Amino acid sequence: MSEKTAIYPGFFDPITNGHLSIVNRALKIFDKLIIAILKNPQKAPLFSIEERIYMIREALKGVENIEVDTFDGLLVDYAVEKNSNVVVRGLRALSDFEYEFQMALMNRKLNRNVQSIFLMTDYKWFYTSSTIIKEAASFGGDISGLVPDVVNRKLKEKFSPTKNT
Ligand code: PNS
Repeated sequence: MSEKTAIYPGFFDPITNGHLSIVNRALKIFDKLIIAILKNPQKAPLFSIEERIYMIREALKGVENIEVDTFDGLLVDYAVEKNSNVVVRGLRALSDFEYEFQMALMNRKLNRNVQSIFLMTDYKWFYTSSTIIKEAASFGGDISGLVPDVVNRKLKEKFSPTKNT
């Protein structure tokens, strides 16, 4: 049987425990998972691509069968380039559904061979997102337990650089 590789795309600005839950679930189904960070010049991220790659690698240290990569352009083209026809996305509360549905249908129109599959994130992360975590961290809120330690550290460095140097 040939190896089955899936793509897990996103901005990962930064990676959260919710994302990690999806990675671990996907690895139970697929032989290999490519975590693919979109390089989007239109969106100003908090963390650079290099920082995001570093945090993902640190958070998943010791986990086998993953690759961390970047892409630009269409996701379906990237999937084909990586010899994959599966896109994994995480689903949290109902609010994700419409956006995910739109994206899955667009991807399906662009390439019918690429399948989107949705994994439910653990209920503990149902209401968290990179955006809300960044907002809480920017005001000095305690976001430990919602993100891997390396991300917690990096967020503190970003928002209070003098205290942590
Ligand atoms: O972390 P996000 O914001 O949920 O990730 C969104 C992402 C990167 C998966 C999506 O914007 C994407 O795949 N962009 C690539 C461009 C593309 O293929 N667009 C057509 C389908 S929406």
